[in-house]
Amino acid sequence: MDTPEKSEVIIETRNLTKIYRDFWGRRKVPALKALDLEIRKGEIFGLLGPNGSGKTTTIKLLLGLLFPTSGESLIFGRAANDVSVKERIGYLPEESYLYRFLNAEETLDFYGRLFDMPAAMRRQRVADLIEMVGLTRARRRQLKEYSKGMTRRIGLAQALINDPEVIILDEPTTGLDPIGIREMKDLILHLKSEGKTILMCSHLLADVQDVCDRIGVLYQGELKELGRVSDLVQVSDRTEICTSTLSDATMQKVREVIEASGAMVQAMGHPTTTLEDLFLKIIRESDAHPGRRVRGSDESNDSKLADSAKSAESEKSTASSDAHSDDSKPGKSNKSGKQGR
Ligand SMILES: Nc1ncnc2c1ncn2[C@@H]1O[C@H](COP(=O)(O)OP(=O)(O)OP(=O)(O)O)[C@@H](O)[C@H]1O
Ligand SMILES: [Mg+2]
Repeated sequence: MDTPEKSEVIIETRNLTKIYRDFWGRRKVPALKALDLEIRKGEIFGLLGPNGSGKTTTIKLLLGLLFPTSGESLIFGRAANDVSVKERIGYLPEESYLYRFLNAEETLDFYGRLFDMPAAMRRQRVADLIEMVGLTRARRRQLKEYSKGMTRRIGLAQALINDPEVIILDEPTTGLDPIGIREMKDLILHLKSEGKTILMCSHLLADVQDVCDRIGVLYQGELKELGRVSDLVQVSDRTEICTSTLSDATMQKVREVIEASGAMVQAMGHPTTTLEDLFLKIIRESDAHPGRRVRGSDESNDSKLADSAKSAESEKSTASSDAHSDDSKPGKSNKSGKQGR
């Protein structure tokens, strides 16, 4: 298989610029300035930037939902408003506007009909997607009763109904709790493993770092940084060594060796887990031992949390919890999600 660097360009923008105009047609907000971007087959590309930096504008231009002021955008080498291209794209908007009185099955069936899917294929696809996004138990409830996270999940399922080759996700983790976020990230990685090309935008740095191969950072409509996540976040002027627990004497020896070589020890000690891993572990344990609650002084709670942190670090790989969702999902994978990169 081609590596993403060598494979074909699926999404391309050239000098893409959008200046919103006011009611009178006067130029008002320069939302995107001369964006040049290439996204290749099979990669997950993250568009990162603070609120108002032009992420959604870029996506809408790509999808042909907005006209550019200048420049162009191409998907599969064609203009975004080409109908043959639209069938091959799945889009999760910032907010999904779905019919509130339909349930999950009816919603997906409706969108399957829009794509002229035969009934038997539609039924299977709807069931698979509902299971994939963890809504099996809620599949017959009207969407008006759905929580924010459940709405996000059905929005994703709807975006995938036509089994698209390109998936564009605008803030996919908005409204999800930490478990939902982890599951959404695993789902995105699962879609990549199926060969999909994914463009997602977010202002949540951890989301992007965990799943994206490459990122572009937008600020005030301008692309400020572009590159592979692993290269961008690497701190090249430091070396990190991770071992099993060392005795004080060994630590001292290591320190001496390092100092004798002329380098400086900047930190030595136990690593900390992330709050995300700790949270996921607590939820998983709560599911295994229903009814157990932390009581008593903060001091004992602190030590319990420290213990949890220790094992959370070692159990990161199964961080995505079955406790929260209805079903096991094919997208579940390891915490870092770096496989296959
Ligand atoms: N329809 C519109 N009319 C006028 N200005 C707009 C319109 N849509 C967006 N803008 C402006 O364009 C700029 C970029 O907006 P955009 O929605 O692309 O940002 P974003 O990066 O998606 O932000 P967020 O993280 O808040 O979703 C902002 O200054 C915004 O106010
Ligand atoms: Mg936006």
